[in-house]
Amino acid sequence: MRDYIIKSQRLGLRNWIPEDENPFREMCQDPEVMKHFPKTLTAEDTRDLISRLKNHFQEHGYTYFAVDILDTEEFIGFIGLANQTWESEYTPCVDIGWRLKRSAWGKGYATEGALACMEASNAKFGIGKVLSFATDTNEASVHVMKKIGMHEIGTVQHPHIKDDPRFKHCVVYST
Ligand SMILES: CC(C)(COP(=O)(O)OP(=O)(O)OC[C@H]1O[C@@H](n2cnc3c(N)ncnc32)[C@H](O)[C@@H]1OP(=O)(O)O)[C@@H](O)C(=O)NCCC(=O)NCCS
Repeated sequence: MRDYIIKSQRLGLRNWIPEDENPFREMCQDPEVMKHFPKTLTAEDTRDLISRLKNHFQEHGYTYFAVDILDTEEFIGFIGLANQTWESEYTPCVDIGWRLKRSAWGKGYATEGALACMEASNAKFGIGKVLSFATDTNEASVHVMKKIGMHEIGTVQHPHIKDDPRFKHCVVYST
């Protein structure tokens, strides 16, 4: 059994390990998975992202965790919590986020893992409020936010992507 920080009925959430790099690169190069992001990621982008997520874990004890299906130890993507420091009226804050490979969609995994993170956010990590951000066209993601009990508090423009018309309307949800 791997060293899981958070477990739900079907999922184990943990820090990142070297074996995650290949499957994570594959999913971050899938245009469907990255449809609501500015671009798919190169191998180097993926390595950088994993490195940032590991550093975040070392510093804070939580991150966007790597997620395994407990029964098989299959890595399916990330679900977790991260400190957001980009400039806006809603930041700095802790947000909850998720990105799963396509074969894992539609099985309730994002909702299940996010609910486990929400419980841990307060009980384990002492976090008060948690926010979540998505483009308003990302219906699956917004649906997960609603299913875990979050409610819309406004809209925001991320400063890095504010000139891209696809990201003009980002919604903000809160616990
Ligand atoms: C968002 C994401 C993590 C959801 O994962 P998931 O495990 O399929 O989510 P769940 O099964 O827990 O719940 C998804 C819900 O949205 C619904 N849904 C899925 N696609 C939808 C769509 N296009 N429109 C409306 N609802 C949709 C599902 O039916 C489900 O609701 P239900 O349980 O009431 O039937 C997954 O789609 C993903 O990884 N997307 C790409 C990365 C991404 O966009 N991340 C979020 C960035 S803000």
